[in-house]
Amino acid sequence: MVKVSIVGASGYVGGELVRILVRHPSVELVSLSSRQYAGEYVHKAHPNLKGILNMRFTGEDPATAASKADLVFLALPHKASVKVVPEIIKLGVKIVDMSADFRLKDPEQYKIWYNYEHPYPDLLQKFVYGLPELHRDELKGANYVSAPGCMATASIISLAPLYKYISDFPLIVDAKIGSSGAGGKPSLSTHYSERYGVIRPYKPAGHRHAAEIEQEISRLAGKTVKVGMSAHAVNIVRGILTTSHILTNEQITLQELWKAYREFYKNEPFVRFMMDKTGVYRYPDPKVVIGSNFADVGFDVDPHSGRIVALGAIDNLIKGAAGSAVQSMNLMLGFDEKLGLDVPAIHPV
Ligand SMILES: NC(=O)c1ccc[n+]([C@@H]2O[C@H](COP(=O)([O-])OP(=O)(O)OC[C@H]3O[C@@H](n4cnc5c(N)ncnc54)[C@H](OP(=O)(O)O)[C@@H]3O)[C@@H](O)[C@H]2O)c1
Repeated sequence: MVKVSIVGASGYVGGELVRILVRHPSVELVSLSSRQYAGEYVHKAHPNLKGILNMRFTGEDPATAASKADLVFLALPHKASVKVVPEIIKLGVKIVDMSADFRLKDPEQYKIWYNYEHPYPDLLQKFVYGLPELHRDELKGANYVSAPGCMATASIISLAPLYKYISDFPLIVDAKIGSSGAGGKPSLSTHYSERYGVIRPYKPAGHRHAAEIEQEISRLAGKTVKVGMSAHAVNIVRGILTTSHILTNEQITLQELWKAYREFYKNEPFVRFMMDKTGVYRYPDPKVVIGSNFADVGFDVDPHSGRIVALGAIDNLIKGAAGSAVQSMNLMLGFDEKLGLDVPAIHPV
């Protein structure tokens, strides 16, 4: 059994990590740390786990929690992880960081997108970008993994097979996300009266996840790719849909795209093509991935405007966070990649 600690275990991502790992056959949870809930049963923060797990949150600081484990998940906000990572590295404990603090390889990008000077630029290269679909070989045996952003995950997975087209033509990503994407800490913008019923364009330009999409698609394309991204908050709790447009101005056929997607995703356990000719769910829809680690992918061509359209749907808390992170953990530890994750989505939700 591998000993695992979760820091920030009271949050939404922390809660989903606990829910998945409590049923993982090769993991023993040794410390679930939370400052607000120290000493309380886990079900106080995560009522869905009542009767499933009889553990209490510890109030342990991140290094103490990590020191009890072989691997620690840091489910902390941005800029909180970076403060504790160097100390945990010294302890010889493996890390999966859920924040954005180690996602970008180039420290200059942190100045541009996060408006801060990364305090440990040398550590950025030590972290593997935790997207198994693109970095499986690097993840095998890795010690430090940075879990991707949720909207970046949906965008990158749905766009990666098209990297050849993206390298030559403009790319626009339009993302829609549910309220849990903002985490469990309440604010005026997440207050029910303000959040209910919205289709809110909260970041029409300059969303930080664009930096990750550029990093990963540029790596595939072998040259610098730029993306324009717009993000909207929509009236669901969980789920992300990304609709991406590649303005090719060329006559590309659907058959060509099928070939590109099939070749790229030959044996992916969690990528599904949603491309049915009939029925309600003909294209990716977050509604049918909720609770699962699936990333549903679809695409179309628009000869009229010279566009390729790529669609990606995920549960932001699972494939966009805890599920993908456990998939990475499985690869880091040499387990079957699907362990703990092989569950269908809930329908209807
Ligand atoms: N929500 C998503 O869809 C999603 C998807 C992908 C990645 N992520 C990333 O995952 C991380 C966690 O997100 P979340 O949605 O779970 O947020 P959250 O619900 O706000 O949970 C974060 C937890 O971290 C703890 N915490 C907050 N500030 C801290 C600090 N300065 N030092 C130590 N602990 C602190 C808090 O627990 P206590 O106060 O009880 O200690 C809190 O419950 C973030 O970096 C987020 O960007 C989120």
